[in-house]
Parts: sequence; structure tokens; C-alpha cells
Amino acid sequence: MKEIKTLIDLIGNTPLVQVKTFDTGPCNLFLKMENMNPGSSIKDRVALKIIEDAEKSGELNENSTIVEATAGNTGLGLALIAKLKGYKAKVVILDKMNENKVFHLQALGAEVFKTRSDVGPDSPDHYVNVAKKICNETPNSFMAGQFTNPSNPSAHELSTGPEIYKQLDGNVDAVVCGVGTGGTITGLGKYFEKKSPTTEMILADPKGSIVKDTVEKNKVNAADYSWLVEGIGEDFIPDTLDINYIKKAYEVSNKEAFDTIRQLALNEGILAGSSSGTLISAALKYCKEQEKAKNVVTFVCDNGEKYLNTAYNKLWLKEKNLI
Ligand SMILES: Cc1ncc(COP(=O)(O)O)c(C=O)c1O
Repeated sequence: MKEIKTLIDLIGNTPLVQVKTFDTGPCNLFLKMENMNPGSSIKDRVALKIIEDAEKSGELNENSTIVEATAGNTGLGLALIAKLKGYKAKVVILDKMNENKVFHLQALGAEVFKTRSDVGPDSPDHYVNVAKKICNETPNSFMAGQFTNPSNPSAHELSTGPEIYKQLDGNVDAVVCGVGTGGTITGLGKYFEKKSPTTEMILADPKGSIVKDTVEKNKVNAADYSWLVEGIGEDFIPDTLDINYIKKAYEVSNKEAFDTIRQLALNEGILAGSSSGTLISAALKYCKEQEKAKNVVTFVCDNGEKYLNTAYNKLWLKEKNLI
């Protein structure tokens, strides 16, 4: 057994659980339980790879401050690993993200800066631009830069992909991912292109995001920011996303996403975060369209406990017209 010295040793190697109670047509649908990472999301893998690569290149040293713009989970992964390795963390988070993520970040000792959710990438108030400014103003700082840093997709190419392949004995027909930075879908696309070229990468995109239209080469309207799931959906195409890996795309509404995670909790006991509702909903659409049996994988990207006050709260759901 691997020796566990710190929580860092518990990142990755997450289990794969088959969905039992949903209509999956002729397919088997599996959930990779990324909520079981120590920072409770898929982003622990990315945070670790970014930090380790920066240590190797000399960009990080003993007294460095790590700065990042995040929907919350990358910040949590960075803050956790920063704490264990003795770095400081400054995290810029969108104001539409769940307040629980801010409390969690602060509990881990990160300094948190809230920014507007309703401005595009050209605005100085956009969270990525705010993070760059903080980085410029902080001595000995390192911008993790998940939207541009190749360590992000490479985390998935080197860990998530091989794990999925091994867990299904190489029989992986499709993997359904959302796009925040595109790191997951691009890293997995790269891995499976070499290892299992028939494996299809499928996009789950929240309604209002620009990624699906970009993939389908449709007219791309500006993002309308109406999606309520956290961590996926984009108003720009990040450097870390290579849309060429994406075979097919599905749009998922707020109602579909939130209904799906509530059903998942009720029927299978899995308390998933909101973005997982988008992913599982798209995966079910894909499964039902297939004519022969396929092994399809998607993710429980993060833990639903962060969203008990929203996704699992009837008052909030009513207020948003979701029940
Ligand atoms: C909860 C959640 N799901 C999915 C993603 C998307 O992953 P990626 O950034 O690799 O596209 C993120 C990214 O922030 C996330 O926080």
C-alpha cells in the first residue's frame, strides 16, 4: 500500500461507480468520483500538477504566493497544497459562486478577492484580469494560470485518463466533460487519441455558454451568463481548450442540471456538485441516442455539500424557478 504522508498523496485514484437508477438506453454509465479528492474536486489534480511543474522550473520558491482566478475549486486545491507545502495563496473568485467556497478557502488560510460575474474577458474587472493585477502587485508571486498553463490539461492526460482506461480494462467508448478551462476535455482527448482512438470526447455545455456553438461552428452569440451551475460554461475560449478533440456537444438547461443532481442524491445517495448535473444530464442524452451498448464515463466533479444552500435547498430552487 502507498504510504500516505500528507493529503497530497490522496489526490487522484478516485473510484468509478456505475449509475443504476437512470435510463441509460443500451449503455453503461460510470461516474468518476472526483469529489473524493482531499480538496473535494477534480481540480486537486490540476493544482498539484501546476505547483509541482512550477517547483521544477524554479518559478515557485519557499516564500512564494500563489495567485489564481477560479470558480472556486482550483483555488481550493491550490490553497490546500499551498498550506501543506508552505506557500501563501491569493484567490480571485466570481461573486456568483457559492459563499461556502469562500468560507472553505478562508478556512484553509487563503486570501479571497470577490469579482463581478457579469463582465467579459475584455473588462479590467474580469476575474482573470483582476488575478493578473494582484499577481503584478504581489512580490514573489506566481500566477497558477489554469486558463493558459499546459500543466492543467497535462494533469488529466497523465492521471485521469490512465485511471479511467485501467478501471474499464481499456473499454472506454465515450467520456463526457464540461468546459471551464477545457483542461479535462483536452487532456483526456490527448490521452485517448493515442491510447484508444475510438473513444469519443463529448461536451456538456450549460445553456448560455459559448463553447457548444464554437464547437459546432455556429454563429457564436455572447455568453448570457444565465447558467447557475458553477465551474463550467464559458464566455471565451481558453488557451487550454482544444475544441478539435470534441466529437459532439449537448446543451443542458439549469432545470435539467439541477433536477439530475437531486435525483442522483435521492436515488443513488451521491451528493454531487452542480456542474455534475450538467455532465450527467448530457451523458444520459448521449447514452439514450446510442444503438449499441457502450461504456460511457462522466464525472462527479465536486462535492454537493458546498451547494446544500442552493442546489439542494427548496427555497433557492423556487426562487430560481427550478421547481
Ligand atoms: C466543479 C467543476 N466542474 C468542472 C470543471 C471544468 O473543468 P475544466 O476546467 O477542466 O474544463 C470545473 C472547473 O473549474 C469545476 O470547478
